[in-house]
Amino acid sequence: MTKKTRNKFIGVFDSGFGGLHILRSIARELPEYNYIYLGDTARAPYGTRSGEIIYDFTKQAVDFLFKNNCEIIILACNTVSCDALRRIQREYLPKKYPNKKVIGVLIPASEEAIEKTKNGRVGIIATEGTVLSGAFERELLKIQPGIKIFQKACPLLVPIIEAGEYSSKATELILKEYLSYFKNKNIDTLILGCTHYGILENKIRKIAGKKIKIISEAKIVSKKLKNYLERHKEIEIVLGKNKIINFYSTDLTNRFKTLGKKFFGKNIDVNKVVI
Ligand code: DGL
Repeated sequence: MTKKTRNKFIGVFDSGFGGLHILRSIARELPEYNYIYLGDTARAPYGTRSGEIIYDFTKQAVDFLFKNNCEIIILACNTVSCDALRRIQREYLPKKYPNKKVIGVLIPASEEAIEKTKNGRVGIIATEGTVLSGAFERELLKIQPGIKIFQKACPLLVPIIEAGEYSSKATELILKEYLSYFKNKNIDTLILGCTHYGILENKIRKIAGKKIKIISEAKIVSKKLKNYLERHKEIEIVLGKNKIINFYSTDLTNRFKTLGKKFFGKNIDVNKVVI
């Protein structure tokens, strides 16, 4: 293999900037690689949209990232990883990109939850779309049939975080209200099934209490990706290792810059694109 072919990127896609929190963790775990981040901010949030529209948007994102030299794409959005991911893997890739890989965040989070739970009672907080799709339930039951699953949609959390209110008293009150759903459910593990919720991890941990293990996707996805690349040398070998990270979004607002910094942990330079 010539050096020239070792120039591929790892693509990370999210409906908006929540996935930056996941990329931050991935880039920390695997700093040597090159990344392209795409946030579809012009059309976010996805959490309340229909499965069909989310699939169409995801196909466009996948096209953009593969055209821009990605070898593997991580769908960092839970809402996208629910239904669109399976259709992308089963219908779209075999037809258009038979040698490329697209992976999601649901399976890593589900595997980790099953590993961590001792009493087999797992809670999930997520967007409405994710909860309604039943995808977490499907994945968890596939790994461990018979497990008890309790899901709570938290539709106010994404807008409140996007309004920059993640540290406010109001957010804490809303969180307490949502998490009170789990009070009598005796869960010992809680999946934060939305890109944005990682920002609230400490608050959630405090409210949920010490007995409940919190499954936060950013750390898990980066660990699993590392493991995936170790097992898939045919992908790893073509990846560029120049520590480049290119950021793209479909709309550019000041909010992307300020919240982007919060989610990614440092200032980012974002380019606007049409996909
Ligand atoms: N990225 C989405 C998720 O993880 C949350 C934001 C949205 O609804 O688009 O489900």
